[in-house]
Amino acid sequence: MLDIQNISKTFNPGTVNEKTALNGLTLHLNEGDFVTVIGGNGAGKSTMLNAVAGVWPVDNGRITIDGTDVTRLSEYQRAKYIGRVFQDPMTGTAATMQIEENLALAARRGKPRTLRIGITKKEREEYRELLKTLDLGLESRLTARVGLLSGGQRQALTLLMATMNRPKLLLLDEHTAALDPKTASKVLTLSAKLVAENNLTTLMITHNMKDAIKYGNRLIMMHEGRIIYDVSGEEKKKLHVSDLLAKFQTASGDEFANDRMILS
Ligand SMILES: Nc1ncnc2c1ncn2[C@@H]1O[C@H](COP(=O)(O)OP(=O)(O)OP(=O)(O)O)[C@@H](O)[C@H]1O
Ligand SMILES: [Mg+2]
Repeated sequence: MLDIQNISKTFNPGTVNEKTALNGLTLHLNEGDFVTVIGGNGAGKSTMLNAVAGVWPVDNGRITIDGTDVTRLSEYQRAKYIGRVFQDPMTGTAATMQIEENLALAARRGKPRTLRIGITKKEREEYRELLKTLDLGLESRLTARVGLLSGGQRQALTLLMATMNRPKLLLLDEHTAALDPKTASKVLTLSAKLVAENNLTTLMITHNMKDAIKYGNRLIMMHEGRIIYDVSGEEKKKLHVSDLLAKFQTASGDEFANDRMILS
């Protein structure tokens, strides 16, 4: 479903701020793979997701999504394949618009525009059913402005919007990091449910080592713009946080350093 072949990205080349963030990275994901991504600060995790989403072109290498070479496509052209959720609950939704307007925008993303702007009764019913699955009571607040929702509610809505068109790829970048632990756990459970129900191929960056082990069928560890450890299936399930830290030290010769790292 996703094939990343030997991609590299150097920011600000030829200046004092030159930084190679991706350094010959190769990764192949099968359909339905749910991969957690860990690594220290500046390892290139977010940069990898940005490369896949097409935020800027990579310097070399190739990116293929479901058989389509997207390497030269713009972010906008790739958007129809990709759902994304970021750390900041404010970024994924439009605060001044109603819940149902946000859902309508997401539903129509990547589809031919119609002249009709209104939301039909049938669409409203669909949104109500979708919102019910969140179990947050939002189904009775369709016309409430999104700016009134809590961070967790907004992030849950963003997840729903990112997955409702069954994207070929779901990219989650520490999407629960700004939430309190209880809400974060709820949103993570919801994420796993949406991924499973829609069999979504997913990359989820997390700084929570336990979550990285608990969720998904595969885990990758990044360091200096490359993948230094890749584990899946039964072997992944058996991992402990201490194994991950040991693996990191062996593979990188460094201490694992992430200022937001959560070990338990
Ligand atoms: N747009 C950019 N311009 C310049 N440098 C960048 C840009 N994006 C990322 N970098 C640099 O590339 C390196 C990798 O950054 P990236 O954000 O991918 O790290 P990360 O693994 O997501 O780290 P964190 O855990 O802190 O989020 C860092 O040194 C960062 O400063
Ligand atoms: Mg990051």
